[in-house]
Amino acid sequence: MPVTIQQLIRWKQQSRTIVALTAWDYIIAQLLDAANVDLILVGDSMAAVLGYETTLPITLEEMLFHAKAVRRGIKRALMVVDLPFLTYQDIQQAMYSAGRVLKETGAQAVKLEGGYPAMLEIIARLVQAGIPVMGHVGLTPQSVHQVGLKQQGKTEEDAERILRDAIALEQAGVFSIVLEHIPADLALRITQKLSIPTIGIGAGVHCDGQVLVTSDVLGFSDRQPPFAKVYTNLREKITQAVQDFSEEVRARKFPE
Ligand code: KIV
Repeated sequence: MPVTIQQLIRWKQQSRTIVALTAWDYIIAQLLDAANVDLILVGDSMAAVLGYETTLPITLEEMLFHAKAVRRGIKRALMVVDLPFLTYQDIQQAMYSAGRVLKETGAQAVKLEGGYPAMLEIIARLVQAGIPVMGHVGLTPQSVHQVGLKQQGKTEEDAERILRDAIALEQAGVFSIVLEHIPADLALRITQKLSIPTIGIGAGVHCDGQVLVTSDVLGFSDRQPPFAKVYTNLREKITQAVQDFSEEVRARKFPE
């Protein structure tokens, strides 16, 4: 049965942990979906796979192109697509960008960063228009030049602000919130306070679900954030396979 937004909310009520990963093409999406990942995010962290230094340069067109390929690989998981930097900062632009994502890719929802007042208004309008929105607070990589990539919510004041933003996002109508790189006790407070699921990344074990960037998990990336866990090293394995192939070709051992 395909995963729905209502199912995610029921899973929170049943304390059934949600598994989420990112995807950027058909093959990765197919593998994650077949492995029963519940939520597949076409995250703008895909910028790293495309060779960008930060998530800022990635365009809506690039997100749409990759999201369409991901969609073709999914049978079961809920699919969410990030709106890239500066494609949702006023209501008309947000409606246009989110509308294109839902209409052209077949994703079920979009994700936006930030819980400040102007963003809350935009989110409320998208939700009223029938566009499911996932929130994202804590470390928001699209603000890298203002806040860096360090852990957020370390001071009591900052923790209170993030908690307030998360509550306001729920009131604005998001169906779930990503909590990125915040202390575990703050993630626990937010998770207990909200009736929608929290999906943590570098936010401790108490969230309703966990997400990681798949290129980190698979050891594709040349550098990972401190909270990522590398489950296999595909960089090494691919290099070895390519060297083996090259040697056999040069020695005329392949083809046999
Ligand atoms: O872009 C992304 O992959 C994300 C995750 C870090 C949650 O937003």
